[in-house]
Amino acid sequence: MSASNLPQLEDLQGPAEIEILVNAFYERVKDDELLGFIFEKVAAVDWASHLPRMYAFWEKVLFRTGSYTGNPLAVHARLLPLTSMGRPQFDRWLEIFQGTVNDLFAGPNAEHIKNSASDMANVIYSRLNGVADPRFDPANLTPEQRLRYASYREA
Ligand code: HEM
Repeated sequence: MSASNLPQLEDLQGPAEIEILVNAFYERVKDDELLGFIFEKVAAVDWASHLPRMYAFWEKVLFRTGSYTGNPLAVHARLLPLTSMGRPQFDRWLEIFQGTVNDLFAGPNAEHIKNSASDMANVIYSRLNGVADPRFDPANLTPEQRLRYASYREA
């Protein structure tokens, strides 16, 4: 089948698609050699309560709706003394997240959720590890990021 015959991916439209994305993402995370045990063993995550929290979290990020309240920074800081939360772990987390989005969805919301995930991974990583946020070193900005951050400043 040629690429043009492949089914067109739809965008994330609302809570139903977020649920599909989050479920698929954590299925991959659970199987990952670098990250799986952090969720399953170190944090011994209760999936029945974590998954709905993550649906609500991403719904708020994407659509400004949903019931999420929480402090992701504090939650991840609790993991620091227990396991490595360094660049390799955050790079892998992001790679799996972006890969899951790309496999399932396409469109403006899919782009937005990937950009948000990348920004938040940078914030959490740098705050946790006490290093400068690499996004704010002008040497590291891509032209796309330069434009996007400028639009935040105008907002
Ligand atoms: C090395 C990468 C990461 C690891 C190993 C990790 C691991 C975890 C674990 C174990 C929990 C706690 C679950 C529980 O106890 O119920 C958690 C919660 C959470 N994570 Fe991550 N995480 C990572 C990166 C990220 C990133 C980049 C984001 C945001 C884009 C994120 C967003 C969240 C949120 C929103 C929660 C829920 C916090 C709450 O309970 O209010 N995580 N994460």
